Amino acid sequence: MSLINEPGIEAEAISQNRPLQDQPFDFLPKELRKSVFIDGAWILPLIQGGKGVGATNGTTAGAWALENAGGTIAATGASTTIGKNSRDISYTYSSLTRPERHEEMIKWSIKGCTLQVQIAHQAAQGRGRVRINFLKMAGGSMHIMRGVLANTSLKDGANMIHAVTMGAGLPSEEDAQICADEGVYLDPIISSSMALKVLLKRTYRKWQGEFDKRIGAVIYEDPWLAGGHNGITSRENPDEPQNPYDRVRELRTIMNQNGMENVAIVMAGGVWHLRDWQNWLDNPEIGPIAFQIGTRDLLTRECPIIDEWKHLLLSMNEGDVALNKFSPTGFYSSAYKNSMIRKLYERSERQVPYTLQANKEQSEQINGAGIPAKGFFVNPADKAKTKNWIEQGFTVAQRTPDKTLVFVSKQDDRELKRIKTDCVGCLSTCKLTTWSETPEKKFSTGRIPDPRVHCIREGLLGAIEGEDLDNQLIFAGHNAYKAGDDPFYRDEHGNVFIPTVKQLIERLLTGN
Ligand SMILES: Cc1cc2nc3c(=O)[nH]c(=O)nc-3n(C[C@H](O)[C@H](O)[C@H](O)COP(=O)(O)O)c2cc1C
Repeated sequence: MSLINEPGIEAEAISQNRPLQDQPFDFLPKELRKSVFIDGAWILPLIQGGKGVGATNGTTAGAWALENAGGTIAATGASTTIGKNSRDISYTYSSLTRPERHEEMIKWSIKGCTLQVQIAHQAAQGRGRVRINFLKMAGGSMHIMRGVLANTSLKDGANMIHAVTMGAGLPSEEDAQICADEGVYLDPIISSSMALKVLLKRTYRKWQGEFDKRIGAVIYEDPWLAGGHNGITSRENPDEPQNPYDRVRELRTIMNQNGMENVAIVMAGGVWHLRDWQNWLDNPEIGPIAFQIGTRDLLTRECPIIDEWKHLLLSMNEGDVALNKFSPTGFYSSAYKNSMIRKLYERSERQVPYTLQANKEQSEQINGAGIPAKGFFVNPADKAKTKNWIEQGFTVAQRTPDKTLVFVSKQDDRELKRIKTDCVGCLSTCKLTTWSETPEKKFSTGRIPDPRVHCIREGLLGAIEGEDLDNQLIFAGHNAYKAGDDPFYRDEHGNVFIPTVKQLIERLLTGN
């Protein structure tokens, strides 16, 4: 399916001037209209969700902060340039080995993050909060964070960055110390109260009794609703969403038991209309609360994603975004089911368990491309399946770390090899290329490559650079489908209207 040819995707121009017709601002209780205390300041209870690669940057974060809300720069792959909407974020690599390219990536990232923070700091004009989001799983994340915070420090122990937020893995004690040394909060992104308990005992243990000095807000990212990576644990069922209210109430109990009554919780995931969250406001079971806006923030003029992506969001249906296990980090993630994702589902279906020696069940030998000369053994029904797949052109068997074989085409086999060759070590460990940033482990996870996952760097970069969105990684929250029916995104003539960040925030504060 080509999005470009889809009716309604490219044809519509974006209307520039939609008069805002909402009643301003009488939805929130009085106290909340003023503010909530987050990352050291009283700001509106609205936080921009950080979105890598490049979908939130200095310009967008600065625009949120200027409205006295929280803006969040994505550290992952931050652009080293201004202009062309800051969409040009491809780093160039000249080294031949992965460890050297990994070092180049770290240098580029520090440069890009520093620039984006400077842009946000200037744009914010001292209002709101400027935050930066790191992925714990990102390659060299601690190194990059240290470099950026050093570059952005101000006089008197202050920093242009007010808080670091960290997701896709739990921050370490060293991460917390680096932030403490720079006078910056370290706000954890968690998906259960259990994760906070672990963090308080481990990462923040030095700050026992004064956690609020290090934690400017706790972000609860709902694993069944939020876009991007999701923290579903082995104790939870990806197909059985739990009620976020119950989980956040439990989180508040744990926070209160640890002297964090005044630390705000930021509810992230599925927040579209604030009117749907009314019972969370002014509610002692929930305590101080703010809302993180991830997917909805993609639909702003400042957001550098291409118009085609914005139109795609406006055309999504319920169920188009789903949790999958295709991230090379090993985490679940939520993405739009385009051709790229569908191909990975199909690839995983062309999968059979195998053994090296024949046994009672796995009695049938299979041979062919990707299989050693003495063959592998599968059960008779699976042998019939593999024959069928080979006939359809999926002629190469690739081993997975789970003792299964997946069948891919020759072209995909070549593509998987190319990805491994081009790897820059963007993650701390990668299931696809088996890269590990640990020299003691010889830069390898020691496992075999997993052909069932995608290259996250190429998928996210391709998306922000606007190349053939149908074959790039489009992270999105599960409520993205609400965009299409939201009258806010149409002008009086029915043309698509994309608001500025200021207009979005005004709209959010009406409850709509
Ligand atoms: C395109 C996209 C990219 C994202 N990238 C990141 C990221 O780099 N780091 C992170 O912590 N969260 C990331 N997220 C999650 C958001 O910060 C936010 O918590 C989430 O989108 C909230 O859910 P919502 O999309 O339903 O509003 C991403 C989300 C989207 C939609």
